[in-house]
Amino acid sequence: MSSEHAVSGHEPDSDPETPHLDFAGTTPYEDYVQADVLTHLQHPRSDDPGELVFLVTTQVMELWFTVIVHEWETAARALRGDDLPVAMAALQRSAWELQSLNASWQPIAHLTPGQFNAYRAALGEGSGFQSAMYRRLEFLLGEKSASMLVPHRGAPRVHDELAKALTEPSLYDEVLHLLARRGHPIPDEVLRRDPAARHVSHPAVEAAWTAVYAGDPESELVRLGEALTEVAELVWRWRNDHLVATRRAMGSKVGTGGSAGVAWLEKRAQKNVFPELWSARSHV
Ligand code: HEM
Repeated sequence: MSSEHAVSGHEPDSDPETPHLDFAGTTPYEDYVQADVLTHLQHPRSDDPGELVFLVTTQVMELWFTVIVHEWETAARALRGDDLPVAMAALQRSAWELQSLNASWQPIAHLTPGQFNAYRAALGEGSGFQSAMYRRLEFLLGEKSASMLVPHRGAPRVHDELAKALTEPSLYDEVLHLLARRGHPIPDEVLRRDPAARHVSHPAVEAAWTAVYAGDPESELVRLGEALTEVAELVWRWRNDHLVATRRAMGSKVGTGGSAGVAWLEKRAQKNVFPELWSARSHV
């Protein structure tokens, strides 16, 4: 027994192994996580102590957007290959991730106009409206718009990724193709529509969801419909939390991105994600 153990009275055999301390180069944690890179990407532009949390919240949300885009692309690919279990697993993971994304509003959800004004000028014309990853997320939901590529003309990699996302079928397009392959009468004008155009609610799609929900409540398609409804609700909650945080922080002033601010965001928040999944409920 070492003197240390004799003093503390610990049994040497019950001591857990302590972690390794010696590494030749950087730690394996750093090699994997790149925490040193990540924690040196914060460059506030004002002296206000509140700016850092605004910047970090925005960066955290960008990371969640990235994860969620990855999940929905996985789900879209799996649906194309008729692999429902893989698609469902990705959608369910994305619902937990959306909850984390939405919870990250908390640190900036209660800003007073004075607190926001203390660093607002530092943002210049910067606005989340210019977030390419958020745009990919909206494109996957079917909210396509070629004009949203314009702000990214000066950044070729971002522009190319976004252009690809614009012209690829959305997650919802893949869902509608699956409904058609499962025997639901989805018309050609929906299945062969221009993938770069915004999805517009269609009565035949509403009728298909109505039939799905009127059938076996345990069916694969009802479970898919519910996973998508969960995603839709959580996206709607993000938009609304954003709207309320904005209303608290700046009232009806114009946005740093040049929009009418709250009035513009209100219109965006009114849009239904996967609209027929909501309207079909009135007919079941
Ligand atoms: C209190 C803090 C915030 C305020 C006051 C605010 C304000 C606004 C305003 C006024 C717009 C409309 C476009 C414009 O004119 O700028 C906008 C858009 C947007 N903001 Fe924020 N924002 C805040 C925080 C955030 C955060 C943390 C994110 C995370 C990335 C974010 C992401 C976005 C996105 C993605 C849009 C575009 C929405 C769409 O296209 O529908 N915002 N914001």
